[in-house]
Amino acid sequence: MDDTTQDGDFATRLIAWHRKHGRHDLPWQATRDPYRIWLSEIMLQQTQVDTVIPYYARFLARFPDLASLAAAPVDDVLALWSGLGYYARARNLHKAAQAVVAQHGGAFPRRAAEIAELPGIGRSTAAAIAAFAFGERAAILDGNVKRVLCRAFGIDGFPGERAVEQRLWALAEALLPQTGIGTYIQAQMDLGATLCTRGRPACGRCPMAEICVALRDERVAELPAARPKKAVPQRHARVAVIVADGRVLLERRPPSGIWGGLLALPEVPEHEADAARWVAARYGLTPRGATTLAPLNHAFTHFRLEITPVRVDVAPAGHAVADGDHRWLALADLEGAGLPTPVRRILTELARAPQEAPQGRLAF
Ligand code: ADE
Repeated sequence: MDDTTQDGDFATRLIAWHRKHGRHDLPWQATRDPYRIWLSEIMLQQTQVDTVIPYYARFLARFPDLASLAAAPVDDVLALWSGLGYYARARNLHKAAQAVVAQHGGAFPRRAAEIAELPGIGRSTAAAIAAFAFGERAAILDGNVKRVLCRAFGIDGFPGERAVEQRLWALAEALLPQTGIGTYIQAQMDLGATLCTRGRPACGRCPMAEICVALRDERVAELPAARPKKAVPQRHARVAVIVADGRVLLERRPPSGIWGGLLALPEVPEHEADAARWVAARYGLTPRGATTLAPLNHAFTHFRLEITPVRVDVAPAGHAVADGDHRWLALADLEGAGLPTPVRRILTELARAPQEAPQGRLAF
């Protein structure tokens, strides 16, 4: 679809909806003072309207204008921000106030492009300030607007991706109405915040329902597209399942890394071709046979691990290698033992067929 022509009266619908159903009583809507509008937009970046309102009032009581903010120690600014979080916002606010004094003689810049040069003000926030305070026809594109546009116009691809984002900016600009820009921008924010929400959008009450591509195609739940999943690296490990007298040798893992500090099956070092020989050398045990078992996969947050168990039957071991960092676990006692999931799966399988004769040949 050509984004620039078939807008289905997007702006007209939005403005008409906002007159009836939008928010009109928010404290920063009663002003065209760029300082007050700027402050509200910064506070609202990561914080809900209801939380912002009392902070906004307290902040303005202490710093009623840009000059008073610029002249204040940054710690006073941070104190008033305390509880709102994302304190870089407050530091940047203070820095930007000083920049307006130093570079613009204390008069807030009027053009979105200039406003965006100030610390802590991105393209979308600059546009909102310019539109609300000075009536500039400047497009916004925050997370809410991206969601509305992706759905209404059926735009595929992750909106955080450069090409998709550029398309969305172009669309947002093409949709701008000739008049009523402040209402239109506020309406966009309100639609995304109240009806076209991420989960459970209220399509039945949406002014875009008749033109919404996602609704027509039953794709509301899948748009906007989620961030693509990163390819997860695949790692491999061999673990020794050392069996004697119906017991298995567990070894405490190093404190850091996967399963840090837990008892698990000993990991055979990568360079050791022969697991039985390694068991003999490391634990002073006498292997009788070794079998490679079916590998299993386990997903960690940042990688997948393919675990290949090598069963090494050893001569009855008495209490050899039993200290704080080792334990001979009876297969009959699996249930109560706190074991990492894949270890439990391997041992559960083993407990089911404990007598299976090892097939592997010994190399020595
Ligand atoms: N979020 C960001 N800016 C907003 C505004 N002006 N009104 C309501 N919510 C917002």
